[in-house]
Amino acid sequence: MNAVPIGFGVALPKKCVKNSDLPKDLETSDEWIISRTGICQRYIAENETTASLASEAAHNALKYANISKDEVDLIVVGTVTGDYTFPSSAAVVQKNLGISRGVAFDVNAACSGFIFALDVANSYIKLGKAKCAIVIGAETFSRIVDWSDRSSCVLFGDGAGAMVLQAQEDTDRGIKSCKIYSDGNYADCLFTSGGVSTTQNAGFVKMRGREVFKFAVEKFHELLNDLLHENHMNVNDIDLLVPHQANSRIIQKFIELSGIEEKKVLINIDKYANTSAASIPLAINDVGARFFSGGNVVLLSMGAGFTWGSALIKL
Ligand code: ACO
Repeated sequence: MNAVPIGFGVALPKKCVKNSDLPKDLETSDEWIISRTGICQRYIAENETTASLASEAAHNALKYANISKDEVDLIVVGTVTGDYTFPSSAAVVQKNLGISRGVAFDVNAACSGFIFALDVANSYIKLGKAKCAIVIGAETFSRIVDWSDRSSCVLFGDGAGAMVLQAQEDTDRGIKSCKIYSDGNYADCLFTSGGVSTTQNAGFVKMRGREVFKFAVEKFHELLNDLLHENHMNVNDIDLLVPHQANSRIIQKFIELSGIEEKKVLINIDKYANTSAASIPLAINDVGARFFSGGNVVLLSMGAGFTWGSALIKL
């Protein structure tokens, strides 16, 4: 049994904030942000929430896939910025879509949330425990950044992306491999300064930027080498590579190390900034039909934990 992507959809907040629109007292500049990160603008939630964006993205993905909500028996949301401590954002999505069967839950893997959620859904489908899954990455990081800390708040944006996976037999299309990893020894490189059981609030994003940068480059390179080795491929066999969008310089360094043709690697951080778990599905939406046009698509992620993961999808 293969898990085959049959649709995708996204949702963005209405408000777009360009670098030049950021508060003047941040003492940052369009030039600094673009040259250090590649970011030109981000979308910031006002009336929207993580679950409302996730629901809209899921609705759009179902429409793209042209299937009824009644076929869905699994919803997995990758997020660290849920609407509530409980219920899960996935449960809220389930309610918003009018679905009352199957199972819905969240996974917490920060910027790797989409690939972790994809791995869960792929495993459910392969085991015969689900036939139709919606995998969602959704975040509102604008609510947990410290807007007085220029070294982190300028990096993030809000949004959501969803992918519908269908169980299909007798096909070589679908998810060929999905690998996820974590090492909690790096927890103090990227974390929030609070939580329910410690400060009774969500806290703010804290980051050791240089360590994160270095680790992301190394892991993207290692993940790709392992994926190619295990699937008996070389870098030229890849048709499209979608890395998590944390910083365009991280992606450029990875391109140099891996030797992959630059035109095959998607970079869209200029438009959305780092949307954490939403960044990969937002990027897939940006390539649109190219994602479904056949060939080997590779997804790579790295996030807080540290967590990291890869997926190879044949379409
Ligand atoms: N505007 C202007 N100046 C700034 C800003 C800003 N927004 N932020 C920091 N600076 C200043 C610093 O104060 C410092 O000034 P100083 O030299 O007078 O002390 C100077 O710029 C250099 O700061 P560094 O932190 O050394 O800058 P660096 O080149 O390392 O870039 C950055 C910082 C962009 C955060 C980089 O380390 C990075 O991208 N790291 C990866 C982190 C990341 O992507 N995190 C996202 C979440 S994790 C994930 O998604 C995988």
